[in-house]
Parts: sequence; structure tokens; C-alpha cells
Amino acid sequence: MAQLWGGRFTKETEQKVYNFNASISFDKRLYKHDIEGSKAHVKMLAKSGILTETERDEIIKGLDGILADTESGVLEITSEYEDIHSFVEANLIDRIGDTGKKLHTGRSRNDQVALDMKLYVRDELIQVKGLIFSLMQELHILMKENIHTYMPGFTHLQKAQPVTFAHHVGAYMEMFKRDYGRIKDILERMNYCPLGAGALAGTTYPLDREYTASLLNFYGPTLNSMDSVSDRDYIIEMLSAFSTIMMHLSRFSEEIIIWNSNEYQFIELDDAYSTGSSIMPQKKNPDIAELVRGKTGRVYASLNSILTTMKGIPLAYNKDMQEDKELTFDAIDTVKNCIELFTGMISTMKLNKENMKKSAVNGFTNATDCADYLVNHGVPFRDAHGIVGQLVLYCIEKNISLDDLSLEEYHSVSTVFEDDIYDAISLKTCVEKRNTIGAPGPDAMEKVIDINEKYLNELRGEINE
Ligand code: ARG
Repeated sequence: MAQLWGGRFTKETEQKVYNFNASISFDKRLYKHDIEGSKAHVKMLAKSGILTETERDEIIKGLDGILADTESGVLEITSEYEDIHSFVEANLIDRIGDTGKKLHTGRSRNDQVALDMKLYVRDELIQVKGLIFSLMQELHILMKENIHTYMPGFTHLQKAQPVTFAHHVGAYMEMFKRDYGRIKDILERMNYCPLGAGALAGTTYPLDREYTASLLNFYGPTLNSMDSVSDRDYIIEMLSAFSTIMMHLSRFSEEIIIWNSNEYQFIELDDAYSTGSSIMPQKKNPDIAELVRGKTGRVYASLNSILTTMKGIPLAYNKDMQEDKELTFDAIDTVKNCIELFTGMISTMKLNKENMKKSAVNGFTNATDCADYLVNHGVPFRDAHGIVGQLVLYCIEKNISLDDLSLEEYHSVSTVFEDDIYDAISLKTCVEKRNTIGAPGPDAMEKVIDINEKYLNELRGEINE
């Protein structure tokens, strides 16, 4: 049991208590960020005259050694230490002796862990931004390739009106654009440095918090020391944004599963992204899409969990907040994995364009256009709706579509119909005439694709910054 705080205790900690309290088994993944924060702290201490330059250099060398040895596996982070902060400090003292004991001057583990988590989350959010960008690039390609790929659009999972595959995918594009924006907003809002807040009330040392903040690429220091050590809003915001991303991925997965089913056969998932059955040799299952859909629950759970943990905590730091880690790590791993695999899955799937088109032709997806035809010939919409309703009923009885009706049959219900009805309700017309911005018509789609192209180009600069 290696702990930082034995002085005022007369007894050893009970082993079970020690284990219950320790966080090393999971916070060890913060080692890089803990060392990065410590280096900035030490530089600031030297600049402020609290440490000598020699002491600073010795400590930094020691910390770099710990980092290198941990990365190479020479040094193992074991459960002998209470948490990652104890591990780094104890190792530093082992390496460089008494100077190492000065590292923690003007700092508490409360502001230290607040910093470590922020540094870690910031790095991960930047990676998530990159993954969403790659996903959007794939969607953009699918959109560009499928402006004329007709398919039925659904409401209530009933065929409604014809759309295109580009248009359908474009809906998800909009969702992921918003998701990207949310991550960007979080990064902006969270980017203030809590180090220097001490345990809760700052310190009497003349710390230069602006300097620490600039060394670590923050916009500046946080402005209230009590808030600094007890703020986990950015984690909540992240998990909320992640929940929305997962909700989008899950809806998309659900559609992929439906489209990939034997009944629909709109798409076929690549063998590399499908799995088989141990008993049924014919099976090729969409497990990746199902797992993405399934894992959405655990990301929601992490949001729910931290919200519940935080709701009753008095200011400032309380140990409850250690519970932020496992769920954050799990959600980050899950979301990154899901976006990456989902992107691979949709970039390799094949489209059965013929099946999509066939499905769009039947199911009366052109009934609205048929009514609109009558409206254009002076029939009030409500009457037109009734007329087409009768025609649809007639077609259902005869098991044909509106396109198959003869002009006589049309006339038996309304004499307004003329020869041009067939063109007016053809799949091509139904889709290609819908050209108000946001609609599936090719002119409208081209405009949106152009906008998206510019958007992605701007993002590319941002991602590579
Ligand atoms: N492992 C702790 C956490 O994750 C570090 C901070 C401990 N501070 C304290 N006063 N016990 O929150």
C-alpha cells in the first residue's frame, strides 16, 4: 500500500478499504496526462521562483523517464499505488530523491485530477471529431453517387413517397454535422485550466495560473477554485453528445438491418462486416449494426450514471467524483469503436439499386403526385385526395399499381385525367420534380452536396490543425 497521506494516521488502512478506495486499476490510463500536467506545474513553479531551475530540470527529467519507461513497459503501473498521481510521485521520488518531494508544492490531487481528466477528455474529443469527419466523408461519397438511386421513403415504416438513396443518407449527414458541432462547442467551453485551484481554495503560493494554462494550451485559468475542482459538466456534456451520436448510429443501424434483411434486400453488407451462424449454414448476419444499436444503451447509462452521481454532491471535491472515470472511459471506447466500425460497414456495403427502385414503384408512393395532378387541373385538394383514394382501392383489389390503370379506368373515377397522367406519376417525375431546397430532386440535392463539400473542406483544415 503506497499512499501519499500516512502522517496523521495511527493505523494501517484495512486492505478492503484500501482496495475500495483505490482508483489505480482504471485511472492508470491517465498516466500521460498526469505527467504532462506535472511538467507544466513544475515549469510554472520555477518561473514563479518557488522552485529553482535546477530542481525544475531534475524533476522534468525524472518525469520524462517515468513516461518513457511506462510506454516501453519497463515500468509497470501496479495496484501497489492508490492512484495514478501516487504512482507518478512515488516513482519520481525513487528516481531523483528529495527534489521529487517538491513536485506537489501548491497543488492538490483535487485540482490535479480535474486537470488530468480535462486533458484526457480534450484529446479524446479531438479524436472523436476526426472519426465523425471520416464518417461524414463516407456519407458524402454515398450521396454524390446516388442522386438518381430511387427508393421508397417511409413514414410509420409504410411506403410513403419516393426519395433517393442520396436523400435518405443526407438525413444522417445532417445529424452527424450537428454531432460534430456539439463536440466542437464542448471543446470550446471546457478549455480552461483548473490547475492552481488547490484542494478547493487556491493557495498562498504566488502561482502563475495564466502561465500553466498557456503551457497546456488552455484559453486561460478557470475563475473559481471551488468550481474548478468540482466541475464535471464537460464530462456530462460529452456523454450527452455521445448519447445523441449513438442514437443516430443506432437508428441508422436499424435501417441497415432492415435494408439488409431477406425481405428488403436493398443493400448487402460485405462479408468482412458480417458474421455467420454456428448452426444455420445459410446465415449472414448484420452483427456489427446490431452491436452498435445494442451498445447505445451503455452510453446512455453512463450519462444517467454521472448525472445521478453529481446531483447531490456539496461543494467542493468529494470522492463520489472518482466514479466519473470508468464510465467515461467506457463510453469513449464504445463511441470511438462504434463510429469507426460503422464507417467501415457502410463504405463496403453494396446497394441493390434495382430492388430499391422496384420497391419504390409499387406501394402507391406516387399517390400524392396523382392527387397533385388533379389539383393542377383545378380540382380542390380534398376532392383530389378522395378520388385517388378510390383509385388506390381499385388497384389494391386488382393487385396493380396506379401506373397500370388504363385511361378509361382513370376516367371512370374522374374525367379530369388525361394522357399526361402517366408521366406525371412516373417515379422519375415524382422524385426529380421535387426541387425545393432539402427535397430529393437532383437539382436540390446538387445544391446540398455543394454546401456539404464546402463544409467538409473547411473541417479538413480544422482536423489537421
Ligand atoms: N482518484 C481520485 C479521483 O479520481 C483523485 C483525487 C483524490 N483526491 C482526494 N482528495 N482524495 O477523484
